[in-house]
Amino acid sequence: MGFSIRAFSLHLSILIISSLLIQTTISVDPLFNICSTSQNYTAKSPYEINLNKLLSDLNSKTPPTGFGLGSSGRFPNRAYGLSLCRGDVSTKDCRACLVNASTQITKRCPNDRGAIIWYDNCYLKYLDNDFLGKIDTQNRFYMWNLNNVSINPEIFNQKTRDLLSKLSENAIETMKMFANGEVEVGVGGEYAKIYGMVQCSRDLSRVDCKKCVDDAISELPRCCGGKQGGRVVGGSCNIRYETYPFLNL
Ligand SMILES: *[C@@H]1O[C@H](CO)[C@@H](O)[C@H](O)[C@H]1NC(C)=O
Ligand SMILES: *[C@@H]1O[C@H](CO)[C@@H](O)[C@H](O)[C@H]1NC(C)=O
Ligand SMILES: *[C@@H]1O[C@H](CO)[C@@H](O)[C@H](O)[C@H]1NC(C)=O
Repeated sequence: MGFSIRAFSLHLSILIISSLLIQTTISVDPLFNICSTSQNYTAKSPYEINLNKLLSDLNSKTPPTGFGLGSSGRFPNRAYGLSLCRGDVSTKDCRACLVNASTQITKRCPNDRGAIIWYDNCYLKYLDNDFLGKIDTQNRFYMWNLNNVSINPEIFNQKTRDLLSKLSENAIETMKMFANGEVEVGVGGEYAKIYGMVQCSRDLSRVDCKKCVDDAISELPRCCGGKQGGRVVGGSCNIRYETYPFLNL
């Protein structure tokens, strides 16, 4: 199944069309990363030492609960970070994902004072200023299935939005700020089942989680209208729908 990625950040607006082949299985490669590119640190500098400590803290702290946040060092070389595993991912898979994420983030964004990397199973973000508890409106990308739905797209899109919106209500009632569910849609002899999930980073308040997810849902027409699958993936929340089950439940 082909899919495309489009990414936006405050620093750059880029359009990436890739025709990677992705199966319904989990991809172990990063989905995407964004390097802040605003400032660099040098080898053995205080920032590098703080960052390494932060990443190692997050790696040990995150897997048991699926979420970790922290900071390390003193201003102006304090590093802040968070890591989040998808709500259905096991402790073992969460750990494995973050080990790769922390290695890859420093490889892909060498000496960068801020970066974010996303996988199917987890994401990891760090920055040299305190972003915790605020909605990340800068780092975002979209993925979508290249195939169009065979069902009436207006009805399909509306059902998808309704599902995700309902899931956002459910997610903010849970400790993990994660929810999944499905809905069936049948029109004019065509039938589809839509599977959805929404998840927020747990540093957000419930109100901000809802806001973040609602914003993501409102972006679906930009990437994913009438498509068989779509994701809006950000630094604070993400949403996904497909016409096949994609979680490890
Ligand atoms: C980690 O990365 C390696 C090399 O890319 C890959 O073989 C492995 O499957 C990855 N593991 C996870 C859990 O992503
Ligand atoms: C930081 O380093 C990268 C790669 O080494 C370079 O492309 C970039 O221009 C540097 N940024 C600054 C602000 O020096
Ligand atoms: C999906 O629909 C769009 C717009 O109608 C069309 O341009 C595109 O070729 C279709 N894609 C596929 C894979 O059929």
